[in-house]
Amino acid sequence: MTETTPSTPKAPTVVRTPEELARLRASMGRVALVPTMGALHQGHRSLMSAARGHADTVVVSIFVNPLQFGPNEDYDRYPRTLDADLRVCAEEGVDVVFAPGVEVMYPGEQIVTVDAGKMGRVLEGEFRPGFFEGVLTVVAKLFNLVRPDVAVFGQKDAQQVAVVRRMVRDLCLPVTVVAAPTVRDGDGLATSSRNVYLSAAERDSALALSRALLAGADASSGGPEAILAAARKVLDAAAGAVPPVLVDYLALVDPATFTDVRPGHRGSAVLAVAAWVGETRLIDNVPLTL
Ligand code: PAF
Repeated sequence: MTETTPSTPKAPTVVRTPEELARLRASMGRVALVPTMGALHQGHRSLMSAARGHADTVVVSIFVNPLQFGPNEDYDRYPRTLDADLRVCAEEGVDVVFAPGVEVMYPGEQIVTVDAGKMGRVLEGEFRPGFFEGVLTVVAKLFNLVRPDVAVFGQKDAQQVAVVRRMVRDLCLPVTVVAAPTVRDGDGLATSSRNVYLSAAERDSALALSRALLAGADASSGGPEAILAAARKVLDAAAGAVPPVLVDYLALVDPATFTDVRPGHRGSAVLAVAAWVGETRLIDNVPLTL
């Protein structure tokens, strides 16, 4: 009997500079970009697989963007796992990984930035001032460097998807934005690079976020007030758990503008939540049709 050894997946081409990227770009055909900060997990795998359906070449960028972290946030301790990330990209058939250093993306003071306007000042933007300016600025740079036809983002960061779509529209950028559904672990927790910070007890408490969203979704026939009340009830109980879940916001918003829906609203909406469990801040959301 002949033994078969599993074949090693083809390693992606790793590119570090805009010059190398520009040289490769001409032979890439239609490109789908998956922008990431690394620490790749199942959720990122699903973005890569969605990207494959839209292009000849899948490019994943891996860059922990200092501009989107506040002074007291986790920029220094954010997981950096490039070797493991490259293995994930190889397994997912990614063609090119763009992994620039900070000095490449920010060679000097960043004086000109992209402002998300009023969409960048609510919910995530209220609790993380400057976050969306940092995100949009780096995403605009990545779009200009990679020149993708399509860019794939996770619906898990629903407000991020909405502000990126708005930037594309308002600045006439020639990119189609695709949102891929949130991937959840078996216990319901939305996959996130920050989940590695959670202890077992914290993870247990954190499950209240997805439970609250589910409770809200189950109450959707009762309209906005019923949805928020059902989700709030779960979160109120979780505030008394050990360790407690401390909510930054729970909101039912228009998916395009991220403003609160009106009482009696009918149509699409996003139920979004952000909360702290220990030292970890988690976000989650569920798209609804009312
Ligand atoms: O979602 C992320 O990982 C980041 O915000 C992004 C889009 C890669 C920009 O740094």
